[in-house]
Amino acid sequence: MENNNDKPEQISPTAYYTGAVWLQHHLSHPAFKTWQGRVFYNALRLPMALSRSLKGPTMESFLLARHSIIDKQLHAAINSGKVTQIIEIAAGISPRGWRFCKQYGSKINYIEADLPGMAAHKQQLLEKGGLLRDNHQVVAINALSDSGEDSLQHLVSSLDKQHGIAIITEGLINYFDTETVTGMWARFAQAIKPFPYALYLSDIHLGTLGNLPASKTFVNMLSRFVRGRVHLHFDSEAMAEIALKKAGFHQAKLWSPRQFADALPACRVRGANLVRVIQADLHAH
Ligand SMILES: C[S@@+](CC[C@H](N)C(=O)[O-])C[C@H]1O[C@@H](n2cnc3c(N)ncnc32)[C@H](O)[C@@H]1O
Repeated sequence: MENNNDKPEQISPTAYYTGAVWLQHHLSHPAFKTWQGRVFYNALRLPMALSRSLKGPTMESFLLARHSIIDKQLHAAINSGKVTQIIEIAAGISPRGWRFCKQYGSKINYIEADLPGMAAHKQQLLEKGGLLRDNHQVVAINALSDSGEDSLQHLVSSLDKQHGIAIITEGLINYFDTETVTGMWARFAQAIKPFPYALYLSDIHLGTLGNLPASKTFVNMLSRFVRGRVHLHFDSEAMAEIALKKAGFHQAKLWSPRQFADALPACRVRGANLVRVIQADLHAH
């Protein structure tokens, strides 16, 4: 099976699927409805219903858990006054940028970044829906570029170094091999060093995901969907936390949805705990 590091655009169709999931669960705006999303969502409806009836995991359960935890942590960072600038890398058709800009208005500056084709499509959807605001933009980026116009390093050069920043990746990490992921984390850490506060939020699946027969089938299905391998890099939270620190973060914590069960309904359902959410601070505070 191919490695997605070489052909990252193969991952892009998954954004249409997750886009349809956010819509289906009333987290999105009708402007983000796409025919591709409908096709992928309908294609997976039967296997997901089957898995649910066998008391197995569904993608929706952990997708909603990860999305709501990232939202919660981002709200907390903005409300504490530490973060005013957000770059969501690999944003796909996610409604988060639109939702946060609507809620916080000019208090924040939200940049959605994705590969050129996906970024152009997102821009078009936002414009068509009349959803773009002054504090919200979409740019083309390649999270694997070290330098040049499509790099994070270049993107942050225009931002305000007096204010804090949050970098988000959702639904990206597990499509890349370990070396690519740790290299990407080191690149992120380097790029956000000049900011007084710098936070990284992301979802990640651990190696334990492949241990249950139902989740093994599920990992295979996901790999087939992206025509490339799904990589499970770390066998424990501690191992991922160590790797994040090695990449340059001062503090790293992997949250499990179970820890948010009281606060977030999406974290109470079966299958929610198949994912973890990374919260990594670049600086000591
Ligand atoms: C599973 S989708 C996730 C979309 C969105 N974050 C969500 O959760 O709905 C993966 C996204 O990663 C983007 N992507 C893949 N490789 C990338 C890269 N090297 N740099 C930036 N984005 C990338 C794809 O275009 C796609 O939009």
